[in-house]
Amino acid sequence: MDHELDEHRLPAHVAIIMDGNGRWAQQRHLPRIAGHKRGMNVIEEITTTASDLGIKVLTVYAFSTENWKRPAKEIKYIMSLPTIFFKNFVPKLIKNNIKVTTIGDESALPPATQAAVTAAKEDTSENTGMILNFAINYGSRDELVEVMQRLGSFVQQGKLRPDQITAATIASQLETAQFGEAADPDVIIRTSGEQRLSNFLLWQAAYSELVFTNTLWPDFTSADFMDCLLEFQNRHRRFGGVKNK
Ligand code: FPP
Repeated sequence: MDHELDEHRLPAHVAIIMDGNGRWAQQRHLPRIAGHKRGMNVIEEITTTASDLGIKVLTVYAFSTENWKRPAKEIKYIMSLPTIFFKNFVPKLIKNNIKVTTIGDESALPPATQAAVTAAKEDTSENTGMILNFAINYGSRDELVEVMQRLGSFVQQGKLRPDQITAATIASQLETAQFGEAADPDVIIRTSGEQRLSNFLLWQAAYSELVFTNTLWPDFTSADFMDCLLEFQNRHRRFGGVKNK
């Protein structure tokens, strides 16, 4: 086992399922929202570390299509976070040449949340360094349903034959197609000990390494992040073949 990160074999795209905010707060007899608040600060730390390392895309699962089932008060608080987060963080994102993007259906977000997200994307659109991609109101099945409906309508209009629907045409219609060669995450990290994908990047995860850590997201540090990347580097990716690529 190597114990140091090999800078030549870094993942291009790292995706994170930030889990455990509620449990972190509960353990401290705090309201769940205290966990989300601290979790927001962790995004800032990990973003800076990932950018310094030279990661190309960092995707964070901020809100899933299933999260609307949570208590209204909690949803309201989570939806207020982008305003606070970007107000403080956009100047640093600009300084670090980081570009903000999103995947998911933003149109269902409260107007103030949409405005904060749109402004952050616009303010960083010229940046050419790491992409910080927020999955907000994102669900992989919804994303795939939309792709299939679009391809179905192309077929109906005679623009596409059914046999022309390939893995490549499907991938080209996914929201992650905007990241080009780095569309699929090389590694998906999930914190808090849960071991499932929860409707996150299901198509894109076909060959992703999955790294699970028991650390709750509000406790997750840059050192934990490096440990996860080290675990990724110690796996032997074969993509279905026999050679270590
Ligand atoms: C999972 O923990 C966390 C979430 C569902 C919300 C994560 C959101 C943020 C950290 C902030 C988003 C910020 C921006 C800028 C968009 P959980 O509540 O499911 O934890 P539990 O499983 O312990 O209850």
